[in-house]
Amino acid sequence: MVLGITGGVAAYKSAELTRALKKSGIDVQVVMTEAATEFITPVTLQALSGQKVYTDLWDSDIPNNMAHIELSRGADVILVAPATADFMAKLANGLCDDLLSTLCIARNAAACPLMLAPAMNREMWEAPATQRNVAQLLADGVIILGPDSGDQACGETGLGRMLEPAALGQAVERFYAEHDAKQSTPKLLAGKKVLLTAGPTVEPIDPVRAITNGSSGKMGYAIATALQKLGADVTLISGPTGLAVPFGVKIEKVKTASQMLDAVNANLSDVELFFAVAAVADYTPAVPKSQKMKKTTDDLTISLVPTVDILASVAARSAPPFCVGFAAETENVVDYARKKREKKRIPMIVANLASSAIGADDNEVTIIDDQGDHAIPRGSKASIAETIALHAAKLYSVQSPPKLDSSKSISLSVVPSKKRP
Ligand code: CTP
Repeated sequence: MVLGITGGVAAYKSAELTRALKKSGIDVQVVMTEAATEFITPVTLQALSGQKVYTDLWDSDIPNNMAHIELSRGADVILVAPATADFMAKLANGLCDDLLSTLCIARNAAACPLMLAPAMNREMWEAPATQRNVAQLLADGVIILGPDSGDQACGETGLGRMLEPAALGQAVERFYAEHDAKQSTPKLLAGKKVLLTAGPTVEPIDPVRAITNGSSGKMGYAIATALQKLGADVTLISGPTGLAVPFGVKIEKVKTASQMLDAVNANLSDVELFFAVAAVADYTPAVPKSQKMKKTTDDLTISLVPTVDILASVAARSAPPFCVGFAAETENVVDYARKKREKKRIPMIVANLASSAIGADDNEVTIIDDQGDHAIPRGSKASIAETIALHAAKLYSVQSPPKLDSSKSISLSVVPSKKRP
């Protein structure tokens, strides 16, 4: 990492910070502004970091004489502590007239986050110009750590103190923990074809009325994203949703359960994992009216016929992909989901409570597989989706697609024209 130091009284705390970061095994490259060297000497920081301290944009020790490019290229993260009001104003406006500001601007922002630990007098912190710059920096994706409130070197008390070295050290360690976790995400499904259904289906009664299920599609889309991150070649068959197509995912949009079934069947070849996340309508009007029905004062009876259970029909194939089902229940959640897994003869099902899942941004689920129940605590749909995708990928890689006994698969087939009891 690069630790930038600018000219503020709190610069003396950066010596302690350098020591703590080194102790945690982090490689610290110190870069100081000229003003910072008025508060603490480069020699101290060199001794503590064990590396030459850079201050000059034109340092001839750098082979290509481009210190700003070389130093930002090699960094995972840049922390500037203390960051003065002047330095923040420069960054907010893209000014780069010294090594530290230039390397902050020259960094690859997607690969190297920038953290600033402001340190200044409270009036300077509260000044509208500083607050405008802070807002701009936040909008540019810069992470602002602090400031803290308390006694200041100028004798005043208030917001503007730099966070203590221990708190800054923890922020850097947290960054590295997340960074390492991301780097080590295994590409368990590299090159594997995965098919998903997501969202609701809409079954027309007449040209303006329909039967549908409550479903935003968020969980299915989040799982498609998580599977794509695991390296899978993902195709999503989606009912109507207002969601953006996840990056790198192929999508086919459908409306009805019957269209969803056709799209799934058309895309099944070479599919190794199938996730049925869609809230498919279980019944569809037997004969949708071609013209809008007129309102009368009489009761209305609509004849409904069952739709094909897409998941069960895929699982009942002679060589099915690894199938993952979902069960949204209003009561006896885990028990009903267990029974559904057995009935549909699938290796994994994800159970959740319908009322807390539909449309929400977070969820709480139980994964059920041959090993039993795995409760996944409440979290964002994105993080739950990652857990589900990883769980399925691991199970798939140890089990390989289960082969069903074709003689038993008869009992699973669903005849669309026959009404359920
Ligand atoms: N499913 C499907 N096709 C259908 C109905 C359901 O693929 N026609 C899938 C869903 O995508 C989900 C799972 O089956 O993965 C469970 O759906 P759910 O509606 O909860 O279960 P049902 O079998 O329809 O049972 P019930 O409605 O009686 O709870």
